[in-house]
Amino acid sequence: MDRLPKTMVLGHRQRRSLAPTEMHDRLRLSGSCPARVAASGSDLVPERYKFYGYRHGLGVRILRGVITHHPLKLTIGDNSGISSGTQINAAAGIAIGKGVLIGPNCIIWSQNHRYQSLDKEIRGQGYEYSPVNIEDDVWIAASCVILPGVTLGKGFIFAAGAVATKPLPPGVIAAGVPARVIGRRDGLTPPQL
Ligand SMILES: CC(C)(COP(=O)(O)OP(=O)(O)OC[C@H]1O[C@@H](n2cnc3c(N)ncnc32)[C@H](O)[C@@H]1OP(=O)(O)O)[C@@H](O)C(=O)NCCC(=O)NCCS
Repeated sequence: MDRLPKTMVLGHRQRRSLAPTEMHDRLRLSGSCPARVAASGSDLVPERYKFYGYRHGLGVRILRGVITHHPLKLTIGDNSGISSGTQINAAAGIAIGKGVLIGPNCIIWSQNHRYQSLDKEIRGQGYEYSPVNIEDDVWIAASCVILPGVTLGKGFIFAAGAVATKPLPPGVIAAGVPARVIGRRDGLTPPQL
C-alpha cells in the first residue's frame, strides 16, 4: 500500500467537483488522519477517487457520481465496480469483496440514527453502527438498499429495487421489500421456498 502525503493541496477545479461530504473526508485526509489508500490500485480508478482514502484492489471501476461517506473505512476487492449515483456510508466499516457488481443508484449504509428518546430530536440522539459485508462475486442490481449489519453471501444476486434488512445467503437470488429469497442461481428451489 502506498501512502498519501499528509498535506494535499486541492486545486480550484477539484474543489468545485466535490460534494460536501467528499470534501469533508478529503479535508480530513489532508489533516492528521493517516492515509491508508493505495495511491493507484488500478489505472481504471479515476484520479479524483484515488485520494478519498478507501482501500481498493486492482481493476476496480467507480463510475462518475458515486458518493462515499467515511471512505477510510471502506475496502473494495479486485475487479469490483460501482455504478453512477450509488451512495455508500462506511462509518461502521464496509467490506466489498472481489468481482462485485453494484448497479446504479444503490444505497449501502452502515449507521442508523438512534431514535429511542421521545424527549429529544432524532438528529441529536447520535448513531448506532453496524458493519456491512458484501462477499465475492455478488451482483447488486439497480436501486437496491442495503441496511446496516447486513452480509450478502458469496455469489448472491440482489434483484432491482430490493431492500436488505438482514443477512442473505450465498448463491441465491433475493428480491422485494424486505428482501426474500426468490430462487437459486442454478435454478433449483431454495430450501426457504
Ligand atoms: C434479479 C433478476 C436478474 C432475475 O431475473 P430472472 O432470473 O430472469 O427472473 P425472472 O424474470 O424469471 O423472475 C422470477 C420471479 O422473480 C420476480 N422478480 C424478478 N425480478 C424482480 C425484482 N427486481 N423485484 C421483485 N420481483 C422480481 C418475477 O416477478 C418472477 O416472479 P413470479 O415467478 O412470481 O412471476 C432480474 O429480475 C433483475 O432484477 N435484474 C436487474 C437488472 C438491473 O438492475 N440492471 C442494471 C444494474 S447492473
